[in-house]
Formats: sequence, structure tokens, C-alpha cells
Amino acid sequence: MDQSSRPPFTYSERSQGMTSSAIREILKITQQAEIISFAGGLPSPDGFPIEEVRSAYARVLTDAPRVALQYGPTEGYAPLRQWVADDLTARGAKVSADEVLIVSGSQQGLDLLGKAFIDPGSRILVETPSYLGALQSFGQYQPEIDSVPSDEGGLDPERLDADLCTHARFLYALPNFQNPTGRTLSRSRRVKLLECAARFGLPVIEDDPYGDLRYTGQAEPSLLSLSRETGASVIRLGSFSKVLAPGMRLGYLVAPRELIGKLAQFKQASDLHTAMLTQMAVYEVIKNGFLERHLPRVQALYREQCRVMLEALDAEFPQSAQWTRPLGGMFIWVKLAAGIDCHALLARAIEHKVAFVPGAPFYARAPEMNTMRLSFVTVTPERIREGIARLATLIKASG
Ligand SMILES: Cc1ncc(COP(=O)(O)O)c(C=O)c1O
Repeated sequence: MDQSSRPPFTYSERSQGMTSSAIREILKITQQAEIISFAGGLPSPDGFPIEEVRSAYARVLTDAPRVALQYGPTEGYAPLRQWVADDLTARGAKVSADEVLIVSGSQQGLDLLGKAFIDPGSRILVETPSYLGALQSFGQYQPEIDSVPSDEGGLDPERLDADLCTHARFLYALPNFQNPTGRTLSRSRRVKLLECAARFGLPVIEDDPYGDLRYTGQAEPSLLSLSRETGASVIRLGSFSKVLAPGMRLGYLVAPRELIGKLAQFKQASDLHTAMLTQMAVYEVIKNGFLERHLPRVQALYREQCRVMLEALDAEFPQSAQWTRPLGGMFIWVKLAAGIDCHALLARAIEHKVAFVPGAPFYARAPEMNTMRLSFVTVTPERIREGIARLATLIKASG
């Protein structure tokens, strides 16, 4: 056979189903300095604890270099697992260290859960809309994704009926300051959701990277902490990306021991373990209550930028538009008048040097084309006002 006619690579069926994330493509354009970008999902570098991280790495490399630079256990660095367990226990969810798996960002946790639970054609449930990175991650394993209808209060547990839940492998839920909408589930909805999950034997994945970024009001109890009283099975994902820095790629997953064992086998096959140096440095930063001092600074920064964006939206956007008023997190979700296509609007917005993420890729099915996600955290107040004014002019011209 003539080898020159052979294509250079023969891809698996799975790789043929993979597409590049719409958001990554948009971000490439919007990273140009002159564009006012509300498109990013990045935390503000002004909130990174640079000095604390620098000195923590130095301490680890001075005090324990032979451990920090060596291979480590797949489940994670024991003191960090214990810290996570103690922290969650203090917040009302009794967790032990062997129920914690340290992961290389909670994104890896999503991938491991997809590997463990999804066969081609398995049914899984997500919110409408939901986190694009989870849709992508689960999508690799070729599930049937069904959406649970949601409203201004987030996922509507009244809609979790036998038709939807029977045979579903899990429900993926974002209870706090959801990505992309900024919505938060009330306590009563949390309890109802867990009662339904318990009734149908449906495991719930609670993804909560933003819960500590609350700017107003009292924290709602986590689904994990409520699970014991309702009898539901909850797997919790947490992340250090939004409370410290995402470049360290550190998160955790809490699950019953049996499942931790299964997920650890997949993690071992994937990356053996999360970098010991990073785990030890993060433990060094947080072990003496640093987050309690640090988080109020990040919350204050985001609270102000969120306030400025809401004020600008109130002043500039047309009456026909609606938007969320988040109590924390990084995102505002806007719904424009029916008939406005936010993909077409984005093309015009980029010509006017302002950008956002159109809402469609956040839907597992039946996207609403007139929606968009705005992030306020990496843009200064003056540029927020200017960017929202430019967008408002374009929207009014489209209406
Ligand atoms: C809802 C949600 N889950 C998970 C992740 C992934 O975070 P990590 O940096 O911990 O991998 C993100 C990142 O933005 C997110 O928004």
C-alpha cells in the first residue's frame, strides 16, 4: 500500500465529536488590549495573594524539598485533604479526609465523574443554562443531556419528575452564583431538590467554585451539608481557583469512600496525582486562617464592580432587556428582546471594541439566542460604564 496516501492521523470517534469551545475562540479576539471585554471568565489578578504564594513556595522548598519534589499519593497531600474535611465540617457537612480527593482544578473532577458515570447514550441532567466547561467535559463520554427547566430562582425542583429523573446517572447543579447566570438557589429549593433526588435515587453533583465570593447576605447551606438529613447522595466539587488563583490548578472532590477509590483509579491513569509542590504551597498559604482575611478583599472588589455594572445596565439598557442581580460570583446574565441574535450582536460589538459571551453555548439543547453573559471582575469601573454604554447603543439599534 502506498503510505503517502494515508492521512497523517486516524482519529478516534470521540475526537471527531470534539469541537473547540466557542468561548475560547471569542477570548482570542477579545484579549486585544483596546477591547473592553466582559467575555472572560477569569478572576481578577488584583485579588491574587502574590506575596503569600511566593513565600509559601519558598518555605516548602526550604523545609520539605524532598517531599515537595517527589511523587505523591493519588488521593492528594494528606494535610490538605484534612484541611478540606475540617473546613467543610465546620460549615455543617461532616466530612472525613478519606472522603476527599484532591484534583488538578475542579475541571478535572468533572472529567473524572464523566469517566466514572457516563456510557454512550447515558442520560444526565443539567440546569438551563449550565456551565459550558461541564457540558464539554461530560460531552466527551457521549451522554444524552436533558435540561431541568430553571427560572430567576435557578433550577426549579418542581420540574424534577419521574420522567426526567428515572435512569438519569446524575444531576449536575450549581447552587451559588451560577456560571453563567449568577443565580443562587434558595434554601427551600435546595431541600426540595434533595428530597426529589433521594426519592428517585438520583446522585447530585454540587459544583461550587463561587460560593465563597458572596458579597451580600448570609451563605445558604451547601447541598452536601443538607444531604444527610434528606438521604440524598451528593458529590461536591470545590476549587481554589476563585479564592486564591486559577493558575495553580487546584481543586477537590468530596464523595463516599467507595467512589473516591474509583475516581482515584481514573485519576491515576490520567496524571498519577496533582503536583505535590502546589498542594503543599497552597496548604502553607491557607493553613492558619488566611482565607478569612483574604476573601473580604476579593469580595469587596467584586461587589463594587458588580454594583457599577448593574447601575450602568439600569441607566443604559432598553426596557425590553432583563438581567440578573447576583449576590456574589463573577457573572450577570442578560436576556434581550426576543428576536435579537447575540452572535450577530457580538460581531458588531467587536467592531465597536466591546465584547461579551453569547448565551447559546451554555445550553445543552434549545438555546435562547437573545441571551448573553457579562463578567465584571477584570474591568475597571470607568471601562464598565463605557462598555455598557457602547453595548446599549448597539442593542437599541438592533431592536
Ligand atoms: C462552574 C465551574 N465549575 C468548574 C470550573 C473549573 O474551575 P477550576 O479552575 O477549579 O478547574 C469553573 C471555571 O470557571 C466553573 O465556572
